[in-house]
Amino acid sequence: MLTGFVTFEGIDGSGKTTVSRLVAESLRAKGHRVHLTIEPTKSWLGDAVRRAYDDDVGAIAESFLFLADRAAHLTDIRAHLQNRELVLCDRYADSTYAYQGARLEGLVKDPIHFLQRASESWALRPDVTILLRIPAELARKRIEGRPRLIRFEDLALLKKVAANYDRLARSRRFVVLDGARSAEAVTLDAISAIERRLKPPRKR
Ligand code: ADP
Ligand code: TYD
Repeated sequence: MLTGFVTFEGIDGSGKTTVSRLVAESLRAKGHRVHLTIEPTKSWLGDAVRRAYDDDVGAIAESFLFLADRAAHLTDIRAHLQNRELVLCDRYADSTYAYQGARLEGLVKDPIHFLQRASESWALRPDVTILLRIPAELARKRIEGRPRLIRFEDLALLKKVAANYDRLARSRRFVVLDGARSAEAVTLDAISAIERRLKPPRKR
C-alpha cells in the first residue's frame, strides 16, 4: 500500500488538475487509499485567498494569506497521512515560492528565500513533487476558454513563475515531466514516478 505526500505543480494550464485526478482514479483502481486535495482550499481561508487576488490586496498580504490557507490545510493533510493514506495535492508550497516569489520581486530581498524562511519550519515537506513543465504559450492556449482569467495567468508573469519552478526543481524531491504530451502519457509517467519514489524499502 502506498503512503506519503505527493504534490503536483506547474503554471496555470499545465494540466495539474487533469493529471492529479487521473492519477488518483488509477491508483484507487489498483487498491490504494488516495486522498486528493487542492490549494487554494475550499475553506473560508481559500475564499479569502481568491478574494485577495481578485481585489489585489498587494503581494505581501496575498503571500501571507496563501501561507495561512496552507497552515490550516495541513491539519487535514496530516490526519490523512496518519491514517496511512496516499495524499495527492494539486498545488502546494512550491506554488507560493514560484508565484509569490515572482510577485514579491522588488518588494523584498530574495523573495523565494524569504517565503521559504517564513514557512519551512511548519510546512510539511512533500515526499515527491511532480512538476508539469510546459511552454507558457501552450498553457495559455489551453486556458483561453476559461470564463474568468485571473491576473496570475498573465503571460509575462507565467514566464517568471516557470523560471522559478525550474530553479526549485533542482531539489531531489522533484520529478519533472513534459506536460505538453497527452494527459494519459503524463499520468502514466506520474504514476511510475510515485511508485518508484514511495516504494517501501526491501527488508534484508
Ligand atoms: P491546471 O490545473 O494545471 O491549470 P488543467 O488540468 O485544468 O490545468 O488543464 C487546463 C486545460 O487543458 C483543461 O481544459 C484540460 O482539459 C486541458 N488539458 C489538461 N491536460 C492536457 C493535456 N495533457 N493535453 C491537452 N490538454 C490538456
Ligand atoms: P486555480 O484556478 O485553482 O489555478 P489552476 O490554474 O492551477 O487551476 O487558481 C489558483 C491560482 O492561485 C493560480 O493562478 C496560482 C495561484 N497560487 C499562488 O499564486 N500561490 C499559491 O500558493 C497557490 C496555492 C496558488
